[in-house]
Amino acid sequence: MKILIIGANSYVGARLYLDLVKEFGEDDVTGTYHSKQISKKFIKLDVTDSQNTLGTIEKIRPDIIVDVVAMASPAWCEAHPEEAMEINKNGTENILEAANKINARIIYISTTGVLNPADVYRKTKLAAEEIVKGCKSGFLIVRPGLVEGFSPNTENDRPFNRILKNLDQKTPAIYDTSWKANVTWIGHISEVVILSIRRGIKNEVVIVFSEGKRSRFDIANDILSKFGVKVEMKNDNDTSAPVQVDLSKIEELRLPTHTYEEIVSKMVDEIHHRDKFKLE
Ligand SMILES: NC(=O)c1ccc[n+]([C@@H]2O[C@H](COP(=O)([O-])OP(=O)(O)OC[C@H]3O[C@@H](n4cnc5c(N)ncnc54)[C@H](OP(=O)(O)O)[C@@H]3O)[C@@H](O)[C@H]2O)c1
Repeated sequence: MKILIIGANSYVGARLYLDLVKEFGEDDVTGTYHSKQISKKFIKLDVTDSQNTLGTIEKIRPDIIVDVVAMASPAWCEAHPEEAMEINKNGTENILEAANKINARIIYISTTGVLNPADVYRKTKLAAEEIVKGCKSGFLIVRPGLVEGFSPNTENDRPFNRILKNLDQKTPAIYDTSWKANVTWIGHISEVVILSIRRGIKNEVVIVFSEGKRSRFDIANDILSKFGVKVEMKNDNDTSAPVQVDLSKIEELRLPTHTYEEIVSKMVDEIHHRDKFKLE
């Protein structure tokens, strides 16, 4: 079973890469980067370049392509709508074209944001979801909520990495109490992807997170309080309407679920044992 992770250097992708290598072995898992090579094993791939994408995929001939690529900052996408569409949507089209040439299956890391596609980022992710449904060998769409947990990529400006900075670099820990999201433990995405590959689950869309919404303050406080770090509140007066989410698919597919308390405890444990999350 050959697996290609496109965007293996991203915050989410680096953890997926590490977990998939542990499960399937280094010889069978290849990771790509675009601009930041965080592992010497990663190969360069630009999804906006159709020839580069096709050539790389035809050379590796994976059975499964895990597509983790996206410009994932909503603010950046809002300011750069054409580039966001080029990478998030057209890049996915190039991956699909190559996947269909070699009969590979696609696992696409999406977002629950597509349930309320109110901004450019969410629109491009929804468009990409529609594209991967054209995969002839089958697709799996994984929709996480707000992803938290330890990744070998500690540099990208993602929410958990900001919490690590509060802890390691003593940056001020001040977090909003108004916006609330369902939290996805980063390792939960790997669990779902691994089991879906093992069981050949395809043509499904699965939401992956723990039940109950939490604010950024709640999450930071629940983690940092275990390390004696004081977290302060701020109120950004978020008024966005909460999205109603149906979590039945993950249970129907007999994939693992975790409570919020379980995932907080896992994340605290990951920080204590961070040496386990190094890439060569
Ligand atoms: N983080 C979250 O809370 C969250 C929540 C829901 C869904 N997601 C989804 O999870 C995925 C990963 O998110 P993340 O937070 O880990 O993002 P991230 O750390 O910002 O990484 C973005 C990735 O996209 C790659 N990329 C950008 N332009 C590219 C191009 N032209 N060709 C190939 N690769 C390109 C980047 O490579 P370089 O850095 O090398 O340029 C990087 O690997 C995204 O699809 C996102 O929508 C994330």
